[in-house]
Amino acid sequence: MRQRVLSGMRPTGKLHLGHLVGALQNWVTLQEQYDSYHCVVDWHALTTHYADTSEIVANTFHNVADWIGCGLDPEQSTFFIQSLVPEHAELYLLLQMVTPIPWLERVPSYKEQVEQLSDRDLSSIGFLGYPLLQAADIAVYDAHWVPVGEDQVPHLELTREVVRRFNNFFPDAALIEPQQILTPTPRLPGLDNRKMSKSYNNAIYLSDDAKTVQNKVRQMYTDPKRVRADIPGTVEGNPVFMYHDAFNPNTEEVEDLKTRYRAGKVGDVEVKTKLSVAINNLLDPIRERRAQALARPGYLEDVLIEGSKKAQAVAHQTMERVRGAVKLKY
Ligand code: TRP
Repeated sequence: MRQRVLSGMRPTGKLHLGHLVGALQNWVTLQEQYDSYHCVVDWHALTTHYADTSEIVANTFHNVADWIGCGLDPEQSTFFIQSLVPEHAELYLLLQMVTPIPWLERVPSYKEQVEQLSDRDLSSIGFLGYPLLQAADIAVYDAHWVPVGEDQVPHLELTREVVRRFNNFFPDAALIEPQQILTPTPRLPGLDNRKMSKSYNNAIYLSDDAKTVQNKVRQMYTDPKRVRADIPGTVEGNPVFMYHDAFNPNTEEVEDLKTRYRAGKVGDVEVKTKLSVAINNLLDPIRERRAQALARPGYLEDVLIEGSKKAQAVAHQTMERVRGAVKLKY
């Protein structure tokens, strides 16, 4: 039997190139080898977006259309919605019983986010419990593997610690301590060289059309020293070249551009035009598959409802075992 992979994505907005290299490409490779489960974690979206929940459902469908666009296959992998499987909430509640509050307070993303998202009140139990809900998402499927980026490693560490502590109190629960599968690609900067983020409006979305991609690439941040094409430029840490490395499969072309850039023998226009061509070539089939998925009436709904039933059958079995281990079986 193939081991299970579990991943989750919050339906808080459109997906961009960062999601593609940071998560989706990894998921696509893994779906061949593992029994893959991909969850739209709508309750996690609520932890930060509880004041306006109106976009969550629409985001869910658009995100899943993007997953399919990127090559995830609902025939091979299971796509489902967290809130359609209430067993996540039940395990989360039981995990809470053994989780010391300081363990959650010292998760690095906690303080960071409370400070960064200062326009929201994140002093809620729900937000503090975010990584514990994530632990429940994973443990309720007996998942061995979780594909994530670097930023999620502390959440996986917490998951293992909590699972270990729970198993100490309730050995028959036999929850699995999951391991991360780290994304191979380094983190991509935003178009302006800041962190890629919806709030900075510095991302290329998977749903952007070709013209939009061209315009965004044209405005990308490059080496600021290069006010003229004949000034030698720096390739390292230059977002335009990081994007070339990530998205331009023609390595010969990329090497040639880098050489000429370093020598002051190429204009930004050429470098950027070749980049937008590469990105549009990559996005074309994604756009097409997404459009097909969205055009079939009821298709995404069916995929998610069926997937959630299948996921629930697995989660239900785990919870039977866990209830037994806690000695709350009636
Ligand atoms: N915290 C994850 C993120 O922000 C999302 C997530 C929730 C998740 N539950 C999960 C990821 C379970 C992997 C497994 O990306």
